[in-house]
Amino acid sequence: MKRKVTKAIFPVAGLGTRFLPATKSVPKEIMTLVDRPLIQYAIDEARAAGIEDFIFVTSRGKSALEDYFDLAPDLEAALESSGKTDLLRLLRTTNMESGAIAYLRQHKPLGLGHAVSCAAKLIGDEPFAVILPDDVIAADTPCLQQMVEAYAETGGAMVAAMQVTPEKTSSYGVLDIASEDGPIVRVKGMVEKPAPGTAPSNLAVIGRYILTPRVLQNFEKITKGAGGEIQLTDAIAHELTEGRDVFGYQFSGERYDCGSKAGFLQATVAFALGRDELRDELAAYLRQLDLPAT
Ligand code: G1P
Repeated sequence: MKRKVTKAIFPVAGLGTRFLPATKSVPKEIMTLVDRPLIQYAIDEARAAGIEDFIFVTSRGKSALEDYFDLAPDLEAALESSGKTDLLRLLRTTNMESGAIAYLRQHKPLGLGHAVSCAAKLIGDEPFAVILPDDVIAADTPCLQQMVEAYAETGGAMVAAMQVTPEKTSSYGVLDIASEDGPIVRVKGMVEKPAPGTAPSNLAVIGRYILTPRVLQNFEKITKGAGGEIQLTDAIAHELTEGRDVFGYQFSGERYDCGSKAGFLQATVAFALGRDELRDELAAYLRQLDLPAT
């Protein structure tokens, strides 16, 4: 029997240098898409998928992120006394139960795989999810929930997957495909950031994973990979060398790369257009823009 996935790791230790100078004082994960911080989208998606324990792997300078998840009793009292019940309700949707969040620090930036391995002791002997908050996915059924449902059938290790153009493959982990069955892909190899022209396919790993604790043990067996970093892709690929299953899941939904400025802006426009109170005004503004052809 496959166990329920109730724990998720959120690697949030990155410096966010692509968003300097903003990230000098604001962690990237607190930057807002419309009016919700990036991290809130990740938390909401995790909750929808049944996650109960939230593990943040942070670094120096991320205390604003911890503060964001604190209760705000003064603010709640002020909203209550001024009768702003809608805002009060909204604020309460972001409250986290005491004990549901754990923070631990990655002391050195040794890579995504290393960040995930830092949480090994908190994971114990259960399957767990990893969510990269930079990858924001708009979907009718949240992406991680789609994967949890698929994982209940497949077991093994599962990564979210999406077709990208051949020029983009070198920015991602890329899957070598053994066979395909609807959205589920059986994987026979994985390469992190393949050199241009060498990718085994155009199917890229996107930042949602469901992994077994065995993957954490693989960190003892792998060495530094792409970019001189300890890569999560390599630890997952090691499952294959030990004869265990790895699957890609081609989710339904629109993914935005909020680790890049262009992706962040696209997500901002898309999420704003999805909001009743903003749609008409923003759409009218966009329509009247007389953009020069490039
Ligand atoms: C990370 C992973 C990579 C994955 C990507 C998805 O890379 O290492 O395998 O394809 O996230 O966003 P990063 O974007 O942190 O360089």
